[in-house]
Amino acid sequence: MPRSFLSLSSLSREEFHQLIRRAVAGKKNPQRWGKPLSGKSVALFFEKPSTRTRISFEVAVWQLGGQPIFLNQNDLQLVRGEDIADTARVLGRYVHAIMARVKNHATLEAMANYAGIPVINGLSDRFHPCQALADYMTLYENGIAPGAKLVFLGDGSSNVAHSLILGSAHYGCLITIATPAEFLPNGEVLTIAARLGAQVTITQDAAEAVEDADVLYTDVWVSMGQEHDAERRHTLLAPYQLNTKLLQLAKPSALVLHCLPARKGEEITADVFDSPNAKIFDQAENRLHVQKALLEFLLR
Ligand code: CP
Ligand code: NVA
Repeated sequence: MPRSFLSLSSLSREEFHQLIRRAVAGKKNPQRWGKPLSGKSVALFFEKPSTRTRISFEVAVWQLGGQPIFLNQNDLQLVRGEDIADTARVLGRYVHAIMARVKNHATLEAMANYAGIPVINGLSDRFHPCQALADYMTLYENGIAPGAKLVFLGDGSSNVAHSLILGSAHYGCLITIATPAEFLPNGEVLTIAARLGAQVTITQDAAEAVEDADVLYTDVWVSMGQEHDAERRHTLLAPYQLNTKLLQLAKPSALVLHCLPARKGEEITADVFDSPNAKIFDQAENRLHVQKALLEFLLR
């Protein structure tokens, strides 16, 4: 079976660093990419909305010389009952890789089992590994050393928190998850993280968590598909808002990151979002660069 990228745990530490270094080099000197996807097509399949993932992948594939094909699930025979296994088998006969954003992580696993070509996770309910690659690239280009302290505030059970936890093992930083008892990270993810050597602290105390932090990170309180649970989430997650009070408890140089889209006034205040500490739009840009490195790595 060809190599897919459904989670950061499928990379070795060396491969993770190699992808980040490649992305940084390509960002500095775009001519160095060449056209490794020349003559190749990549299907971009979406069960949920997207701004960054869709556009950065379309542009990345095109700039590497390939053809991106955007597929909205509602336009495929899937809506009329064709199953995901057959859809994946058919895609595998036409294109060279699939990037998919899905509701259930199991859909990605089925695609990877049946497609016969590499499948890339563009977000599932469990993980968001392309995002975390861009996040750690942003730490790297801002000189955040291994051993630094990254604090994630908010929904500790989210796809973004899970991928940050796994990535911390490869990056070699300490990660603290400040989250209420209702939103603890998934146990299996913590077991994999421990096996990779991650140093994870979980606390319900946001103020204590951010003390001496080098990086503060947050994500929406209500992820896509959780709209029915919005009220409870707002109540439980309110103490974890990334605001000036918390920012002042971190190191003065602390980076502020957010995967976007943001709900200003909810998980992050507008002043912190626009503060000099924030590298949020560099982080969004870095999606393009790390995904080029990933496509080159999987399709070379
Ligand atoms: N961060 C991220 O994945 O953004 P989109 O949902 O816009 O793709
Ligand atoms: N946790 C968020 C991330 C969006 C990029 C969601 O799943 O909606």
